[in-house]
Amino acid sequence: MNIGIDKIGFFTPHLYLDMKDLAEARNVDPNKYLIGIGQSKMAVIPPTQDVVSMAANAADKILTEEDKEQIDMILFATESGVDNSKSGAVYIQRLLGFKKQVRVVELKQACYAATAAIHFAHGHIAMNPDSKVLVIGADNARYGLGTKGEVTQGGGAVAMLISRNPRILSVQDDGTYWADDVMDFWRPLTHDEALVDGKYSTNVYLDFFKHVFEEYQAKTGFDISKFDAMCFHLPYTKEGFKALKIAIENADAEVATKLTREFENVRRYSNQIGNLYTGSLYLGFLSLLENATDLKPGMRIGMYSYGSGAQGEFYSGLLRPGFDKYIEHQAFQKTLDARKRLTVDEYEKIYNSRIKDEKTRKLDISSDPAKFVFAGVEDYQRQYVVR
Ligand code: HMG
Repeated sequence: MNIGIDKIGFFTPHLYLDMKDLAEARNVDPNKYLIGIGQSKMAVIPPTQDVVSMAANAADKILTEEDKEQIDMILFATESGVDNSKSGAVYIQRLLGFKKQVRVVELKQACYAATAAIHFAHGHIAMNPDSKVLVIGADNARYGLGTKGEVTQGGGAVAMLISRNPRILSVQDDGTYWADDVMDFWRPLTHDEALVDGKYSTNVYLDFFKHVFEEYQAKTGFDISKFDAMCFHLPYTKEGFKALKIAIENADAEVATKLTREFENVRRYSNQIGNLYTGSLYLGFLSLLENATDLKPGMRIGMYSYGSGAQGEFYSGLLRPGFDKYIEHQAFQKTLDARKRLTVDEYEKIYNSRIKDEKTRKLDISSDPAKFVFAGVEDYQRQYVVR
């Protein structure tokens, strides 16, 4: 049975910081950020957006009433959860008006959890061919102001409808995975920002890629020439580029050139948004779909998922016949171009103004144009507004 991504949608807030402005404020050569890290802009998440509102905004764009009727499971992948008990998925169930006969759950393994959710959805649909599953990856990537990780922040949500006979990508049951208990990046329960052993994390990411890609080739007999594009988890776009260089090390020149060209399409949106954690790999896939001009049905796309702590997986998907009818060329670029550029002062104020450990606070939502917004807390209960 063909099972995979039937629809894919994305949301990121209307604010961004230009990396040249951040470099100037931090007294760093801008080329370190633009070239060395590979980021030109970074999404800034206002206090009026959290993972639930961002996920609702992403899912709302792609779902019809008929989809909602058929969805019997919502899998919410995040490492920026808003409650230690209640899952983000149950808020989505209400905000988007799903039926009550639905399973709702939140999943966590750093940036990897959305990939786990896709495979869980795959198994569920294999046993229940008429059901559809909503998979969401939503996060706010936060490090400290002025830290080395600051330039790799970002945020947003990817929503994917997983079904049989999908319109976009048939997910192959060919994954190879690798897990090990390492302390490369983590966020203690008391912390709002991630702690990271930066350089070590970049090496673990690449080591895990080597493990799973070598094992994938041994398991399937497919070498790099079988791939038409490679998508990677992109904590910052240079890291994905380093993994690509490993993948094409022994490729012939034509294959290496093609994959390097497609990688520019994969990284285009992430370069302007930053790390999305759980959604990052799938933002890269959406960016490929919307920016590449030579993709064809049947082409094989490689997917490298990595979540610190750590879990790696490599799997592939095949583009479905007619997939391009459902993709609008550079559609999301228009949304990115319409965002408001913040000064570093404005960004720092926003960074410090999110609700934390407060019993009651009402937020001013008037400057947030999104359909779903986080309006504050009342007696520790989160309040969402739908316009
Ligand atoms: P750093 O120490 O600021 O950077 O940390 P650097 O000194 O290593 O420089 C970075 C690159 O810029 C280097 O290139 C420099 O040569 C270059 P590379 O050697 O890597 O090819 N450079 C320049 N290039 C052009 N012109 C210049 C210039 N100056 C320097 N003038 C680091 C960088 C990524 C470590 C830091 O930002 C960080 O800690 N980020 C957060 C952690 C992270 O993103 N790790 C990635 C792997 S872990 C992961 O992906 C999981 C994660 O998403 C979380 C999850 O799973 O939930 C993070």
